[in-house]
Amino acid sequence: MEEGAALRPAACRAKGGAPGFKVAVVGAAGGIGQSLSLLMKMNPLVSVLHLYDVVNTPGVTADVSHMDTSAVVRGFIGQQQLEAALTGMDLVIIPAGLPRKPGMTRDDLFNKNAGIVRSICEGVAKSCPNAIVNLISNPVNSTVPIAAEVFKRAGTYCPKRLLGVTTLDVARANTFVAEVLGVDPREVNVPVVGGHAGVTILPLLSQVSPPCSFTPDEISYLTNRIQNGGTEVVEAKAGAGSATLSMAFAAAKFADACLRGMRGDAGIVECSYVASEVTELPFFASKVRLGRGGAEEILPLGPLNDFERAGLEKAKKELSESIEKGVSFMNK
Ligand code: NAD
Ligand code: LMR
Repeated sequence: MEEGAALRPAACRAKGGAPGFKVAVVGAAGGIGQSLSLLMKMNPLVSVLHLYDVVNTPGVTADVSHMDTSAVVRGFIGQQQLEAALTGMDLVIIPAGLPRKPGMTRDDLFNKNAGIVRSICEGVAKSCPNAIVNLISNPVNSTVPIAAEVFKRAGTYCPKRLLGVTTLDVARANTFVAEVLGVDPREVNVPVVGGHAGVTILPLLSQVSPPCSFTPDEISYLTNRIQNGGTEVVEAKAGAGSATLSMAFAAAKFADACLRGMRGDAGIVECSYVASEVTELPFFASKVRLGRGGAEEILPLGPLNDFERAGLEKAKKELSESIEKGVSFMNK
């Protein structure tokens, strides 16, 4: 029970408590986790917000809980409280794990983060098997297949409920395209497909909304900048981590889209890395329609130009290896 609630008998208190979804942030004390917790506490669709980490959650929880928005905030710390943190959750957002330092690829995080994602997903399978999962931890191209294997083994796997978060790629693409066009980024929507690392990040500049065209130089500049946006931040932070603020913004935007879909809103479409039949690969990022059950429909890629078709072949080769690495980790 919340501290002040203990002072007055239940019968004498207003019923209170807004209707809404129960959301957990796992890795809530980290660079992404803290800002994301703040943004989720601001979301009116959230009625209960559980903040879990292996360190420092009491401070983050006390801090965020003083915001006068309706979500009730509770903190949980350490493996022994994971079950309590996850029980009853509708949506679990996972930004837990090590970030990159300059010179590293996202795949260099595999050895540390694969085990972290496995143990958290084992917790999800046990305590909230019907929750929708938004997985942020890198390397996303491999951690999503790991999560799928964990859920398969537990007998709880539903592909629609497992979504790798690639929204930051779309946010970057919208920002950089808007800079070139000289328009407001909020008016731009660039589909970004494939995966979430280097050449697997494939912006479809031929499908930008509203329709526009680019010179070959602009296409080359934009593709390169979007694919290397994460590295741009890692280098600028010079050893102090990777994107946290823009990532929290992107994760909160994606979580909000999931919650609106779960509420039954129509026409919610976002890019996400999911189990897919859009290509021959078992996982692929593309536009998905979000609904009550998660990724209700995986939308086709649409017409690609020659440049994008060549990019797709490169992306598939690297993605296939990353997926295989995730699956093999679980079969060891
Ligand atoms: P961070 O080091 O600041 O925070 C990570 C947090 O995870 C820490 O508080 C840590 O205690 C916690 N943690 C570690 N093991 C845990 C466990 N077993 N259970 C719960 N929490 C645990 O890192 P960050 O900058 O917040 O980045 C987190 C992850 O997100 C990294 O893997 C990073 O590469 C990834 N990331 C992904 C995207 C994307 O677009 N998908 C964007 C940015 C960062
Ligand atoms: C990003 O795209 O910013 C994240 O994947 C973090 C990173 O390592 O680049």
